[in-house]
Formats: sequence, C-alpha cells, structure tokens
Amino acid sequence: ISKGNGVKGLSEMGLKSLPKEYIQPLEERMSMSQIMPQESIPIIDMSSWDDPNVAESICNAAEKWGFFQITNHGVPIEVLESVKEATHRFFGLPAEEKRKLLKENSPSNNVRFGTSFNPEAEKALEWKDYLSLFYVSEDEASALWPPVCRDQVLEYMKSSEAVIKRLLEALMKRLNVKEIDEMKESVLMGSKRINFNYYPTCPNPELTVGVGRHSDVSTLTILLQDDIGGLYVKGDNDRWIHVPPVSGSLVINVGDALQIMSNGRYKSIEHRVAANGSKNRISVPIFVHPRPCDMIGPFPEVLEGGEKAAYKQVLYSDYIKHFFSKAHDGKNTVEFAK
Ligand code: SIN
Ligand code: FE2
Repeated sequence: ISKGNGVKGLSEMGLKSLPKEYIQPLEERMSMSQIMPQESIPIIDMSSWDDPNVAESICNAAEKWGFFQITNHGVPIEVLESVKEATHRFFGLPAEEKRKLLKENSPSNNVRFGTSFNPEAEKALEWKDYLSLFYVSEDEASALWPPVCRDQVLEYMKSSEAVIKRLLEALMKRLNVKEIDEMKESVLMGSKRINFNYYPTCPNPELTVGVGRHSDVSTLTILLQDDIGGLYVKGDNDRWIHVPPVSGSLVINVGDALQIMSNGRYKSIEHRVAANGSKNRISVPIFVHPRPCDMIGPFPEVLEGGEKAAYKQVLYSDYIKHFFSKAHDGKNTVEFAK
C-alpha cells in the first residue's frame, strides 16, 4: 500500500479485486435485505426559525431518530460548495504532500491524514481516507492546516456557528435547560473537529464498508455530503435507512455526549457508510463536542424530576481516548460511561 495515497491510491491503480485486508466479516457487510427503502429520516426546513413547530420537529427527531436533515439553515450554498471543492483539492494533492500529514510525520496531533479508522486495532480495514483537523485557534489553523483547504474550512466553521447554536438552544429547552451559560457552552460546543472523508470507487463494494457501524462521540455532528449517497442509519429491527443526498442540506446527528447529557433522551444512533462500485464520494462532518478537559454526565436539570442517572460522570478526554483506541464496534463506546 502506498501509504501517502491511501485507498485513493489503490483505487486509481485500477485494481480488479479488493485486497484481502479490506474484506469485512459477513455480519459487517451491507446486504439489500437489511435496508428499509420506504423509511426516511425527517427533513426540517429551518427558514422560519421563530416558528415553534421548527424547534418541536428538531427535538422530536433527536428523540426518535437521532438523525435529521436541515434545509434553509443559513449556511450559504457557496460556502458549502467551496468546502466540497477544497476537499477534492486536498485529496488530489500528490501523495508526498499528504504523507507529510500521516500520524508519524505530522507536525501536530491536531492535523492528521490517514486511511481506514484505526488500522492497528482493526481486523478488517475500511475503504476510506480522511483528513482530520482539530480546531484550537485561528492562528494555529493558519500555521498548520493545509493551505489548499484552510480558508474554506475556517469560513465554513464560522458560517455554521449560528445554526449550531440554534439547534442546541432548541434541544436544551426541551431538557429544561433554560440558559446556555459558560459552563454549558463549554460542554456542549467547547471544541470542534472537522474531517474530510474520501471514499474512492471500490472494486468489490459488497465485500467491504466505507465506514463500519459506530455512533459518534460528539454532542452534535453537522455533516455535509455530496450527491452520491451511501450513509445508512440504524432503524428498528436491525434494519438500515438510507440518508439520501438533498441538495443544499446538512445532515445533523446526535452524538454520545448529548445522549449522556440528556440522560438517554436524545439518541446517538449507529450508522455506517457503504462502499461504492462506480463513484468517488466525499463527506465533511463537523464534530461539535465538549472540551477534552470537561467532565460530562447527565445534566442536573434533566434529573430534577427524580429521574435516575443512567450514566456516570466521565472526563471527556478519557471518553475520546477509549473511542479511538478500538475499531468501530457499533454502539459500544457509551458503555464506558455506565
Ligand atoms: C461517518 O459517520 O463516519 C461518516 C459519515 C458519512 O461519510 O456520510
Ligand atoms: Fe459518524
């Protein structure tokens, strides 16, 4: 494997069949019989924000599905387009440029190019390359983030801040949290990570996955996807629901941190990405999460009525460390907080 060019490099060699390292066990592969074509997650129009029905729909979706799409969210379409272009530019860099950002070479832990999820811990690899950028400050980003995408990412992060706040405000209100004070702001959205995901065309897509079953460790994830499709969310009876690309929309999902803070009221749902036999797909998630130094646990407001805490208090950096130490294994990370 030419390390600096990940699975994109493999795909472009024109392989006729999938290398055995990527062959997933049967139970991890996606089969048509597991898919519910008639189901879909809600699509919520956020143009009339002040309408209480909008907040209502958001909270209902977060409780029932853990996933929804939003349209008219206030992030300009040009900003979304320029982030997608920046993603293609980054992965289009020569292998030797990307290699400089591999774990063993990168000048910072906060900037990382890699392939699969956690190759050291995985029995089978995932058919995906990624760039992961942990946001610390604008100065650090200017100094360390790849110049081919830095400005577009910063602009996207800035212009998505308002909608993230609105979503969290609505979600907090239902939990009886009336005000997002400094401490709450820190645990809800004190730090951010943005990833660029690249899923190249795969020679035997039915034998592998783009991303294996997992739930996110974030508070909320804001996902921009292109028009290819392939993201599946777990529904009832172990069946999977496709999240179809909707032009101009963003996919929002509840992560483990919010499930824990809400004492299980909002659901952090398992999801996965299928590999594609004829197209290259990109996606760009922003993971909004607590600061690593924050303790997370069910909010006191949620327990006020006498509800028993379903999770203990954990240091968020321990929670993340646990997630990144193992392969994707469904919804098991949250057990760490029990
Ligand atoms: C992920 O959940 O890890 C990726 C989602 C996507 O690419 O659609
Ligand atoms: Fe995810």
